[in-house]
Amino acid sequence: MRAVVLRRPGAFDALRVERIPEPSPGPGESLIDITLTGVNFDDLERAAGVPPQPPLPTVLGVEAVGRRRADGRRVVALLRQGGGYAEVAAARDAYTVEVPAGIDDAQALGLFEQGVTAYGALSLAGRLRAGESVAVSAAAGGVGHLAVQLAIAAGAAPVIGLASTEAKRQFVTRLGVDVALDPADPELADRLRAASGGTGVDLFVDSVGGTVARAALAGLAPFGRLVCLGWRAPGPPDGDGATDPRTPAGVVAVTTAQLAQGSIGCAGFWMRHVVDNRALLCAIAERLFDLAARERVAVHVDRTVALHEVGLAHAAVATRATKGKVLIDVRREA
Ligand SMILES: NC(=O)c1ccc[n+]([C@@H]2O[C@H](COP(=O)([O-])OP(=O)(O)OC[C@H]3O[C@@H](n4cnc5c(N)ncnc54)[C@H](OP(=O)(O)O)[C@@H]3O)[C@@H](O)[C@H]2O)c1
Repeated sequence: MRAVVLRRPGAFDALRVERIPEPSPGPGESLIDITLTGVNFDDLERAAGVPPQPPLPTVLGVEAVGRRRADGRRVVALLRQGGGYAEVAAARDAYTVEVPAGIDDAQALGLFEQGVTAYGALSLAGRLRAGESVAVSAAAGGVGHLAVQLAIAAGAAPVIGLASTEAKRQFVTRLGVDVALDPADPELADRLRAASGGTGVDLFVDSVGGTVARAALAGLAPFGRLVCLGWRAPGPPDGDGATDPRTPAGVVAVTTAQLAQGSIGCAGFWMRHVVDNRALLCAIAERLFDLAARERVAVHVDRTVALHEVGLAHAAVATRATKGKVLIDVRREA
């Protein structure tokens, strides 16, 4: 089969398609003939060598949609160990769900890894209630564009989306956000308070960290919550001007005094805690598929590339040039 194999972390153009044997399914696994896989930030980090690294060589790709070979059913799967950038994957049955008729492959794929993350951040970690104000960073991204739609569907108001370019802010406005803000605005905390009627934001879902997370904390309402699901941007040096090399760029320290004095809360969300709970994973997937069937949420496809174009697709996500989901059509050869 054809697959994108990572032999050595490095440049985007080092990702090449190779012919390798099909994987052999282990106990509790099934082969999937993949139609689409997608780019996630996880893949960029694995390709760049960010720890923890899987044993090399490895096939990248943490998600896939296609037909289960054993019964021909259309399924979508999370591949925590990779293997999605290929024509065939061995997927754990516990991390696989059937796709209902009426939900196409692109929607199913976009809703699974990134949709479950968006839902988990808002509802499980953020405990969102109808009528609360919500802000989302990287709101035009794969997770972010679903988070703003899910917040709107849950009755949040106002919903605020942060995005770095005017084109992205127009995109999130078309998705229905009430206010679109620039994450680089030096007055971001004030803008968040103003956008939420002066009191501050009830729930901020952040995947960026650094200065954005600091502004989010400062812009929370009393009893507001910051939910962290990742970190990207290097923040300014802390304290005496030195950055701690053991702290990943973008991670922000919060003290218990800050929480008490602001009557605010911080929570985190990590997908693995849903994935390891089969009943929860299925319940969230069912909810997301239902919302998609009722057109309350839709995956926006930024582009669909062939396997040999994966490096270009990674570069596009890394340079913040994409809106919504980047798909890989594994059957497309040209
Ligand atoms: N906790 C979990 O279980 C979980 C699961 C899945 C994903 N995630 C995290 O969720 C985040 C979004 O993932 P995604 O796959 O949907 O990616 P994405 O949002 O489509 O792309 C990343 C976006 O982050 C923003 N960004 C800010 N600083 C950046 C930087 N220095 N480099 C690149 N992008 C930067 C950009 O938006 P702007 O240009 O608008 O700022 C960019 O478009 C990632 O942090 C990922 O690790 C977490």
